[in-house]
Amino acid sequence: VSSEHVPARVAVVGAGAMGAGIAYVCAGTGHAVTLTDASPAALDAGLERVRSYAADGVRRGRLDPAAASDLLARVQGAETAERAVAGADAVIEAVVEDLDVKRDLFARIEALVASETLLASNTSALPIGAVMGSLQRPGRAIGMHFFNPVPAMRLCEIVVGARTETETVTRAVGLAQGLGKETVVVRDVPGFATSRLNAVIGNEAFRMLEDGVATAEDIDTAAKLGLNHPMGPFEMIDLVGLDVRLAVMNALEREFGDAYRPSDLHRRLVRDGRLGRKSGRGIYEYDHAGRRGGTDLSA
Ligand SMILES: NC(=O)c1ccc[n+]([C@@H]2O[C@H](COP(=O)([O-])OP(=O)(O)OC[C@H]3O[C@@H](n4cnc5c(N)ncnc54)[C@H](O)[C@@H]3O)[C@@H](O)[C@H]2O)c1
Repeated sequence: VSSEHVPARVAVVGAGAMGAGIAYVCAGTGHAVTLTDASPAALDAGLERVRSYAADGVRRGRLDPAAASDLLARVQGAETAERAVAGADAVIEAVVEDLDVKRDLFARIEALVASETLLASNTSALPIGAVMGSLQRPGRAIGMHFFNPVPAMRLCEIVVGARTETETVTRAVGLAQGLGKETVVVRDVPGFATSRLNAVIGNEAFRMLEDGVATAEDIDTAAKLGLNHPMGPFEMIDLVGLDVRLAVMNALEREFGDAYRPSDLHRRLVRDGRLGRKSGRGIYEYDHAGRRGGTDLSA
């Protein structure tokens, strides 16, 4: 990939929610994409998700049917990572958030690609320096943190490891901008910029709830109508998952100390299996159709 938008060959490894979204936006901006996953069923589901993003684009009038079929023709499923990354100009990794899995994968990939291939990880919280720690040439490695759902979310947070070369930053910014994303460039510290801000706002909201400052609904309404946030902090936490957010808080507390200590209420809800939308109950309760009901934090 060069710093200008030139169609390239992009391999996306991991075909879950994020990988499918990344493959879709890459193909939608002219790149030839190979999508792969360790699980054949997950690869099928990922390709299906790409097709449904395209169908959705057509339905909403954002994509004409011919462009949608061209887009889909640019996405190929590959059964192995080896096949997916062969000849790639850039590899974007979006596998499970597990340091060992990501490290092993990048070590394998590095042996299969050209020395100038850009290597990017979509990790939400792991240090890029650690993810890329096993590479012979970490200078071409970087974080490209996309947000869910990728086609709708406008930011790509570019995370610069201590050993990332300046040219790699330029290339990653160029790639992201070519995908239609805005970029911010951040240093490789836990929580980057987005997760750290989100953690503070969410934690403060929990503490306010514990202190009886206002109800959860009113704290969310305050953020939405008074601060112009599109979502309230509790709506956001229920979407992200209370367990996922707790893991982020724990990592931030280890790095930055007490200011990031997760609230007792947050910990109790996770202990009780109240993980947010995905478990039907977090701060709020959800019915089978995912519609939000009230909140009962007494037990
Ligand atoms: N979901 C989000 O909101 C979000 C946002 C930003 C970043 N992320 C990050 O993106 C990454 C993926 O998240 P997701 O929500 O798409 O997860 P997901 O669980 O939907 O998908 C992960 C996929 O990786 C596959 N996989 C696991 N090990 C693999 C391997 N060795 N090789 C190839 N494929 C492998 C799994 O089969 C699975 O299909 C994580 O690092 C996550 O932290 C997630």
